[in-house]
Amino acid sequence: MKIGFLVIYLLLLTITRDCTCERCDDWGEDTRKLTQAYDGEPVRIRCPLFEDYLKHNYSTAHSAGLTLMWYWIGKGKDLEEPINIRLPDNRISKDKDILWFRPVILNDTGNYTCMLRNTTFCLKIAFPLEVLKKDPNSCVSNDKTPEVVTFQLGDTATLTCPDTKGYYAADVTPTVNWYRNCLLVDQFVDRHPQGLSLQFSNVLQRYEGNYTCIVSYEENARAYNLTRTFYVKTIASHFYARAPVMITPNDKQTFEFLVGGELNIECKVYFSYVNNSFTDIGWTVNGKTEGDFTDPRLHVNESVTMDPTSPGAKTVTKELRIRKITPDELKHNYTCTARNTLGVVSRQALVREKVGTPRYITELACGLGATLFLVVCFVVVYHVYWLEMVLFYRAHFGTDETIGDGKEYDIYVSYARNAEEEEFVLVTLRGVLENEFGYKLCIFDRDSLPGGIVTDETLNFIKKSRRLLVVISPSYVHQGTQALLELKAGLETMASQGNIRIVLVQYKPIKNREKVKELKLAQSVLSVIKWKGEKSKYPGGRFWKQLHIALPVKKPSSTKNSCSFQMVPQYLEFGTECSKNITT
Ligand SMILES: *[C@@H]1O[C@H](CO)[C@@H](O)[C@H](O)[C@H]1NC(C)=O
Ligand SMILES: *[C@@H]1O[C@H](CO)[C@@H](O)[C@H](O)[C@H]1NC(C)=O
Ligand SMILES: *[C@@H]1O[C@H](CO)[C@@H](O)[C@H](O)[C@H]1NC(C)=O
Ligand SMILES: *[C@@H]1O[C@H](CO)[C@@H](O)[C@H](O)[C@H]1NC(C)=O
Ligand SMILES: *[C@@H]1O[C@H](CO)[C@@H](O)[C@H](O)[C@H]1NC(C)=O
Ligand SMILES: *[C@@H]1O[C@H](CO)[C@@H](O)[C@H](O)[C@H]1NC(C)=O
Ligand SMILES: *[C@@H]1O[C@H](CO)[C@@H](O)[C@H](O)[C@H]1NC(C)=O
Ligand SMILES: *[C@@H]1O[C@H](CO)[C@@H](O)[C@H](O)[C@H]1NC(C)=O
Ligand SMILES: *[C@@H]1O[C@H](CO)[C@@H](O)[C@H](O)[C@H]1NC(C)=O
Repeated sequence: MKIGFLVIYLLLLTITRDCTCERCDDWGEDTRKLTQAYDGEPVRIRCPLFEDYLKHNYSTAHSAGLTLMWYWIGKGKDLEEPINIRLPDNRISKDKDILWFRPVILNDTGNYTCMLRNTTFCLKIAFPLEVLKKDPNSCVSNDKTPEVVTFQLGDTATLTCPDTKGYYAADVTPTVNWYRNCLLVDQFVDRHPQGLSLQFSNVLQRYEGNYTCIVSYEENARAYNLTRTFYVKTIASHFYARAPVMITPNDKQTFEFLVGGELNIECKVYFSYVNNSFTDIGWTVNGKTEGDFTDPRLHVNESVTMDPTSPGAKTVTKELRIRKITPDELKHNYTCTARNTLGVVSRQALVREKVGTPRYITELACGLGATLFLVVCFVVVYHVYWLEMVLFYRAHFGTDETIGDGKEYDIYVSYARNAEEEEFVLVTLRGVLENEFGYKLCIFDRDSLPGGIVTDETLNFIKKSRRLLVVISPSYVHQGTQALLELKAGLETMASQGNIRIVLVQYKPIKNREKVKELKLAQSVLSVIKWKGEKSKYPGGRFWKQLHIALPVKKPSSTKNSCSFQMVPQYLEFGTECSKNITT
């Protein structure tokens, strides 16, 4: 038995091999011939060979001795097999070049091949069949793309349920139901079902949508449905069809551009709907059309807006941009042309160079900027150099206050008798004030004669001085009976005679509550020049300038020194060898 089966199997193999080995012109798979059908509905597929590939029709081919055979490959399978036409109820049957499914089921999805052959000739082609289930709660499946029909607004039109002939006997009258977006068409405005057709008495834009017809009939006591869908699209009536209308450029509008700026002109054209018409729009620059544009600075961009009131009509805007435009290019001829089957419109854009205002604006901006800059400079210079400016003024235009006032000393120095302050006064202050600025200092401990009465001598000295320089520090208050005497005397003299002025130099900060009455009084009316340690040591620094301003104006001629003193410090570049001579 087993051997017998094997022999038969081998025999079958050789036969099939022989068949397949024979040359057959395979024209591959024609996917354009896709058939989509709904599960449970009757469907027919026609061998495409006789429609598009051969001059013969089936009858002539058949009478010429050629036979038509069908094969299929089920979805997800890779073996081609003959079609079983011996199913119960003749579910699948062959009729000439047509294969009938009554009805088709989901498992029938696959690629179907029809082969036409005699002993010397063979030709085959494949095409797909897709069986779909309807979407839940819908009369259709979204995967099936409806056929599009276009109706003109205002027309009367008829929609006929297609591909129903031959499904049922001629004497059968099927029930036809029409649906719009799966809603039964019943008492609809302007739309009336009439058997296999749906009559539109006046097409309006809002009637657009998916129209489905379901044809129901009975055969051999079985109910069948045929479902077909159209997408009805509306377009403007031919009554409104006309040549393009150019909105811009026009004769009234002049475009002005700056040399070096961007040129930007819009060509805006209204195209009404014209059946089977192209819509062309393009720029021509000095006779060159868009296809010839090579300059990378040049760009065109097109945008389309549909006219919501007139289906199929649209406004097309074509923008021309040229960056960094040259004066020559502003004189070029910019022409926009639009055409459809009904006509051509062409217009040149009026382009001009923009002049005047920009240059003026730049100049104004420059002027303002310069003024602002100068003001800022002046403010900065004033704040940084005002001390120098005052000193300069005093040196050149100030009146010498030392002449004829009968005083002997320029400055009486009052300070705490304490090693640190003593060093500051005797070395630092004295060094600069006497040697650099040429003042005559009175320092009690240095200049008083031994054996005198301190109080009398102090008062005497102060009377003979033009300024009382008080070196403030915490020790000044704590250890300075002599110092306080000097301060009191100075204040009294200043108040009663007004011919001495007090200059406060803060050597070290002092707490407010430690201050004596006299010091508080002096500080409240006089500004304090602060010594900032190392920072203030440099003779050209701020401390010395402030101090110098507080000290008397003294012209070089009035000094008793043989060498003329320089009242203006060296750093102002008025210095001579003199000041150096003194220090050395
Ligand atoms: C087939 O073609 C022949 C001649 O080309 C024609 O006479 C005949 O009517 C056609 N048959 C069909 C069914 O179209
Ligand atoms: C469809 O095919 C699958 C296997 O491929 C099978 O299980 C199923 O029964 C078939 N359905 C029908 C309705 O024949
Ligand atoms: C039909 O064949 C093509 C390739 O020839 C394949 O891509 C496609 O999936 C097949 N269709 C079905 C339903 O099997
Ligand atoms: C087979 O068909 C071709 C084309 O119709 C024809 O030319 C050829 O004579 C036929 N061969 C036979 C043996 O009938
Ligand atoms: C018409 O049907 C198609 C495909 O089923 C769907 O994509 C589309 O949204 C439908 N249009 C309307 C207005 O329902
Ligand atoms: C035919 O379609 C109708 C709806 O139009 C539905 O009620 C009925 O069940 C369908 N019949 C079959 C056999 O699919
Ligand atoms: C558009 O023109 C074609 C022929 O070019 C014609 O068949 C069709 O009916 C026209 N459509 C309308 C809505 O006029
Ligand atoms: C500008 O060009 C268009 C077409 O390129 C032409 O018809 C028109 O006469 C030209 N205009 C001038 C002023 O040269
Ligand atoms: C063209 O213009 C549209 C709108 O005017 C804009 O969204 C788009 O980005 C532009 N395309 C190019 C390439 O400039």
